[in-house]
Amino acid sequence: MQKINIGLIGFGTVGTGVVKVLNENAKIIQDRLGAEIVLKKIADKDIEKDRGVPVDRGILTTDAFDIINDPDISVVIELVGGIEPAKKFILKSLENKKSVVTANKALLATHGEEIFNCAVKNDVDIGFEASVGGGIPIIKSMKEGLAANRINSIYGIINGTANYILSKMTNEGGKFEDVLKKAQEKGYAEKDPTYDVEGIDTAHKLAILINLAYGTNIKLDDIYIEGITRIAPLDIKFAKEFGYRIKLLAIAKEENNRIEARVHPTMIPAHHPLANVDGVYNAIHINGNAVGSVMFYGRGAGMMPTASAVTADVIDICRNMRHVPAGSPIKDFGDKFKQGMGIKTRVSPLSYLPSEIKKVEINNMESLEMPYYIRFSVIDKPGVLSKISGILGSHNISISSVVQKDRKVGGAVPLVIVTHDAKEKEMRQAISEIDSLDIILDKTVHLRIEENIGAGE
Ligand code: NDP
Ligand code: HSE
Repeated sequence: MQKINIGLIGFGTVGTGVVKVLNENAKIIQDRLGAEIVLKKIADKDIEKDRGVPVDRGILTTDAFDIINDPDISVVIELVGGIEPAKKFILKSLENKKSVVTANKALLATHGEEIFNCAVKNDVDIGFEASVGGGIPIIKSMKEGLAANRINSIYGIINGTANYILSKMTNEGGKFEDVLKKAQEKGYAEKDPTYDVEGIDTAHKLAILINLAYGTNIKLDDIYIEGITRIAPLDIKFAKEFGYRIKLLAIAKEENNRIEARVHPTMIPAHHPLANVDGVYNAIHINGNAVGSVMFYGRGAGMMPTASAVTADVIDICRNMRHVPAGSPIKDFGDKFKQGMGIKTRVSPLSYLPSEIKKVEINNMESLEMPYYIRFSVIDKPGVLSKISGILGSHNISISSVVQKDRKVGGAVPLVIVTHDAKEKEMRQAISEIDSLDIILDKTVHLRIEENIGAGE
């Protein structure tokens, strides 16, 4: 049977998962591909560590370039993470005419343009299924399954760590720090977990989804980013009482060729399917102008789900390489298989033709309009509500409901207001004015509400 040699750089959580999948599912992969994928070399800084998976020690190396410069290796898997040296490893592999598979969303969100152009220039493939949604096949779905659609909106829960934390806090009342520690132990969190909890990882993934949806190269600075560290158990409790759940959402919407791109904790109706996506699970809700609403759901992080996506990319690339065009004198590549055979770049990296990648106009966050939940910490005394509502009114912010449950005369109590649609700019100004009043005892928390996810767009 034909053999296709691949190399793996980065033998950490996901790298170990890939080796497990290739070992455990070798037969089924062969039966589907019609060839044997041979993991010829693995590079990692530490080749002594026991990864809990059987490997021939002879294939281990500490030098990634043993893989990148090996003429017998056709596909390089980069699972090192971070910007450098991952970027150098990928570019050099592409220049050496090897197809690349990566899960590195941080790199693709910031240097995707250069990497995709390099793949196109060298006529090789780049697979990045695992970069968004862990095991969920969202990239292939957007590139191919939804290729006929204009994408109206994307709403995603695309960080497993943040969703794990928010779900535990909602369902079990767990403490932020303890739950984060558990997510780290399970291998969900990034090396720097602030990427997870501050919304940066979600923004990296949103940038990739936006680039696929709209054929662009959005800059991270164009995405409004807010994390979950300010969310208090009190907000989770109030959200439940108002019939909402709090989720860290990645949101993209397109209207009149302008895009809004934002990441922030969001209150969504408790009955919406996204509200019930718990733990490490991710979900991406997409509205396309032909298909309507579709939702993708699955494990968004972790060794095996992520390895599933990485390995699927490898299989996809190997299938392309094995393709013998109709009418070709070659009937079968057989043992003579060489890197560079078959078809490559059947689908461009972002699905759009490279020549059609364009700049899109982004709506400024301050121009957006939506309902808000606002929690004030106020002194419990008469006249407080009228002062606050007066300032909100002067900014054209109309109140939908008010709740003050506790009674602590002269002490601090939470006062919660839910508004009708209001302008973000006015909301920021109103809160800044209110926070300077002496009746306010702590910084005000405000959360955005999305009532009609994917409906009627
Ligand atoms: P890990 O940190 O577990 O693994 C990375 C491995 O690469 C480590 O063993 C690291 O060694 C090694 N490494 C670092 N630099 C080099 C180098 N120069 N040469 C060779 N090896 C090197 O990360 P993950 O497996 O969790 O993540 C890998 C990628 O997958 C990242 O881009 C991540 O964002 C992405 N990803 C991860 C998911 C997950 O659930 N974990 C899910 C989806 C994507 P050392 O530790 O000594 O630095
Ligand atoms: N740290 C990421 C998460 C890994 O928690 O979702 C998956 O990309």
